[in-house]
Amino acid sequence: MTLKIEKRAWAEPYKMKMVELLKMTTKAQRNKALKEAGYNTFLLRSEDVYIDLLTDSGTNAMSDRQWAAFMTGDESYAGSKSYYNMERAIQTYYGYKYVIPTHQGRGAENILSQILIKKGDVIPGNMYFTTTRLHQELAGGKFEDIIIDEAHDALNEFPFKGNVDLNKLEKIVNKYGADKIPYVSIATNVNMAGGQPISMENLKELRKYTLQHGIRIIHDMTRVAENAYFIQQREKGYLLKTIKEIVHEICSLTDGATMSAKKDALVNIGGFLATNEWDVYEEARNLVVVYEGLHTYGGLAGRDMEAIAVGIKESLDDYHQKARIGQVEYLGKRMQEYGIPIVKPIGGHGIFVDAKAFLPHLSQDDFPAQTLAAEIYADSGVRTMERGIVSAGRNSKGENYYPKLELVRFTIPRRVYTQAHMDVVAESTAMVYDRRKKIKGMKMIYEPKYLRFFQARFEKIK
Ligand code: F0G
Repeated sequence: MTLKIEKRAWAEPYKMKMVELLKMTTKAQRNKALKEAGYNTFLLRSEDVYIDLLTDSGTNAMSDRQWAAFMTGDESYAGSKSYYNMERAIQTYYGYKYVIPTHQGRGAENILSQILIKKGDVIPGNMYFTTTRLHQELAGGKFEDIIIDEAHDALNEFPFKGNVDLNKLEKIVNKYGADKIPYVSIATNVNMAGGQPISMENLKELRKYTLQHGIRIIHDMTRVAENAYFIQQREKGYLLKTIKEIVHEICSLTDGATMSAKKDALVNIGGFLATNEWDVYEEARNLVVVYEGLHTYGGLAGRDMEAIAVGIKESLDDYHQKARIGQVEYLGKRMQEYGIPIVKPIGGHGIFVDAKAFLPHLSQDDFPAQTLAAEIYADSGVRTMERGIVSAGRNSKGENYYPKLELVRFTIPRRVYTQAHMDVVAESTAMVYDRRKKIKGMKMIYEPKYLRFFQARFEKIK
């Protein structure tokens, strides 16, 4: 008995009872599809995609228990029992008092921004998210990035790259005054930084500071359970705490939240706004009727709310998160074996390939990340997405933002793909990496006004 295994393998805490068949494509078919899609992976038809790593949003596989709950959905217009089930799950597991359902995360962002932001206000946050910042701007506010500098450096291995730099926040408070800051916007497991967590210690310091200045913390809790997993694994004193306990503690340090349940909460559609303040709730309950639907369904079917209630509980299972993040880590390590430059440390919801390092001969105006996403699709039918200059969009003066991070996101849906799929993805990326020097950039030939990355069209530079 001499066998020693340093770290025992993770595996999924579930098995499959139904599978979805995929269409396989040829290189010629993919090149044609890509051209028709204006070299934007958002404009591909999913039928033409083999492994779809565009997003982890709404692409999760529901469990047998969620499907069973789905069938019990109460489709009453008002006062649906399913609403109360969802409300109870949010109050129990997250600890927020009042809940407004919305069709997805941005529905909650719209309502919250309209209620809390006045023209001329400033909203500091730990890196922007596309829809979140746009709703802040549409409501008359201005976003200010207060994430630590490490977050903008793809290679920096700091374990909590989602942390806030309190000095940056203090400068903003001194410059504009606390009364111009309706809230600090805090995302857990920061998407645009590569799925990087904020530490409990940092959040506690932020709580202390904001209480001293009478400023709220609004929590974008879209991937809170994944953040909790990293706190459990990396932060002193948390190894013996459960994800459930850690999530509850994170939420207790904030005043309200917006949530896209399409990620962590393991459903295909849905979201909510939560607050501990009666006044905010009262106004939100009124506004939701204008944009989403009555305050007991907010654009969702009763069955969706039942699935969310069950999904929230499942997302807090320690074995689930271990396998979920274990799979992401597996793909990241495979890529590193091929020498592919990725954002480090490996994040929670996907692998972010550093397109600037991958295609150093391209300038950011040649859209390196957009180009790379197109090349990977052409190679194997794996669909990824751009998270760089196209996603960053333009400022209010119409000038391009030039984000430091120019990334391609390989986002992994929860409970959907196998380890063998991850091997195919890593090999395809390696093949493209091998011929990287021959790759030329692209030019944008159509640009929509809002959130241009969704619908922009491109042409290859000859
Ligand atoms: N906040 C974060 C951190 C998100 O990642 C998203 C969506 C939203 C808010 C908006 O939620 O889509 O339900 O309206 N992110 C998706 C993605 C689109 O692919 O990262 P939504």
